[in-house]
Amino acid sequence: MAEWWRDFFDENYLKVYRRRDTKTTDQEVAFARRILRLRKGQRALDVCCGYGRHAVRLACSGIQMTGIDQSAVLLHRAKRAARRQGVTIEWIEGDVRAMEFEPVFDAAYNVFTSIGYFDAEEDNVQVVLRSAAALKPGGRFLLDTINRDRITRNPQSQRWAPIGRGVELENSRYDWERGRLDSKRVLIMDDGSRRESVISLRLYTVAEVRAMFERAGLQITNVFGSFTATKFDPDSPRIIVVGRKPVRAQRKTKRSKARR
Ligand SMILES: C[S@@+](CC[C@H](N)C(=O)[O-])C[C@H]1O[C@@H](n2cnc3c(N)ncnc32)[C@H](O)[C@@H]1O
Repeated sequence: MAEWWRDFFDENYLKVYRRRDTKTTDQEVAFARRILRLRKGQRALDVCCGYGRHAVRLACSGIQMTGIDQSAVLLHRAKRAARRQGVTIEWIEGDVRAMEFEPVFDAAYNVFTSIGYFDAEEDNVQVVLRSAAALKPGGRFLLDTINRDRITRNPQSQRWAPIGRGVELENSRYDWERGRLDSKRVLIMDDGSRRESVISLRLYTVAEVRAMFERAGLQITNVFGSFTATKFDPDSPRIIVVGRKPVRAQRKTKRSKARR
């Protein structure tokens, strides 16, 4: 499938999501700050930062933020928001599949289903591997995505929602063989303009997210089902997994040393 995400995150995305309840974002930020144990002066990386709704708030509370995203439109908004709040953030326009940071961050996070976009599964895994590589020893990574188990209870769905000056309609179908949720979204604005987008997301089970963390060398510290810190269960709206980079590389056992 074409790389739908390249032009999906534009002015239209902002029309739908820009008004995302500020209380929800405040709650997500407070939760992430607590679970990632972020303290004033520490460094954090927002992987797929969008228009910076989390990064700007965290910077306002004294965290040194870096945000990376491929969307020039959303980054433009992010920069404006940071300027308005009087905070300095390092914004990087780039593809997360190729990001390479020195291990300087105390924490990193990837939230609001910003993983699973790529057709090649190895590309999706790279998001976790490269986020983990950016952490200092002892640093923490939080990943938040849709809970596949919940979606599979209702694999075909339709919804509509009012947006600023129009309405958004969405038809979705979970494809069991590919493990992907394919959706068609139509935005119909009051002025009669219409925009159609096709979206495809690889959904994950907790076991699959855990496997990605383990491959990245992260020790899993928490698994939640929402930003209110509820315990994960198959009906949870979200999968939120938190992992920690070991402080020291795992000691080699006597036997494995002897073999060298
Ligand atoms: C659902 S939005 C979430 C944005 C932000 N985390 C939030 O919660 O508001 C997903 C973001 O991932 C970004 N993205 C998608 N593919 C990307 C890629 N290959 N490299 C960098 N960013 C990407 C999009 O531009 C978009 O901003």
